[in-house]
Amino acid sequence: MNAEKRAKALVIVATLGISIVTAYAASHEPSKGLATPQSFDGIADTDARSAAIFTELGKVLTHPRCVNCHPAGDRPRQGDARRLHEPPVVRGADGHGTEAMRCNSCHKDTNFDPGRIPGHSEWHLAPREMAWEGKTVAEICTQIKDPARNGGRNVEDLIDHIGKDTLVGWAWAPGYGRAPAPGTQAQAGALVEAWAKSGAACPNG
Ligand code: HEC
Ligand code: HEC
Repeated sequence: MNAEKRAKALVIVATLGISIVTAYAASHEPSKGLATPQSFDGIADTDARSAAIFTELGKVLTHPRCVNCHPAGDRPRQGDARRLHEPPVVRGADGHGTEAMRCNSCHKDTNFDPGRIPGHSEWHLAPREMAWEGKTVAEICTQIKDPARNGGRNVEDLIDHIGKDTLVGWAWAPGYGRAPAPGTQAQAGALVEAWAKSGAACPNG
């Protein structure tokens, strides 16, 4: 094949790839949105309102896009069905994998959709104490407020971490075939802010 033909063939392959991805995305229901903080204004009791706002945020925190990176064990999970990561990889000493199998040997700075590989420059596993897998929204609430288990943050720090951090933000642009987290990152940040400002109460259970 000469250079021109090769270029044309590449364009055709790329176009085909894009149409397949578009068709696939269109065949999937968009994930449900998030209620606004204002929609909880009718709850007069401050603690009850705060807890209800956190419960809404729980739709994000328990979503596979977040939980797959906040697993209970040492292995990340994959996909909407949260299957164990294949190939088998483990967190290693720093969450970036073992010396032989680093996360960034496959996960690059951005999503690589032709290979279905999600990407971000800081791609690594949340530490063990930040595990959310298998926990109720109430349990995650208690944990996320606990500086010993949230990376030494206070509740106000969580507003920007959830509302603006770009690794967290990946969950709303997760690439090929994955359902994004509900709503938008800004809406999730607004819920965290309203929760913090109403006293950061946790739901029961
Ligand atoms: C040998 C290559 C390879 C290595 C090393 C690797 N991954 Fe992956 N990872 C993949 C591939 C490929 C996918 C996409 C699988 C799919 O969804 O079809 C993936 C998907 C994921 C997902 C799923 C995202 C989602 O919500 O669906 C997470 C989380 C993840 N990897 C975390 C990690 C972490 C953390 C490390 C390092 C400890 C790591 N991976 C190391 C290849 C790798
Ligand atoms: C690619 C893996 C990855 C994904 C995806 C991910 N996280 Fe994390 N998360 C981490 C890592 C690593 C840390 C620890 C970093 C730190 O403490 O600065 C962390 C820490 C956190 C923390 C602070 C500690 C805690 O548990 O209270 C919050 C809050 C958080 N993530 C929220 C989210 C939310 C919300 C989502 C989904 C919308 C999400 N994360 C998706 C890797 C991930």
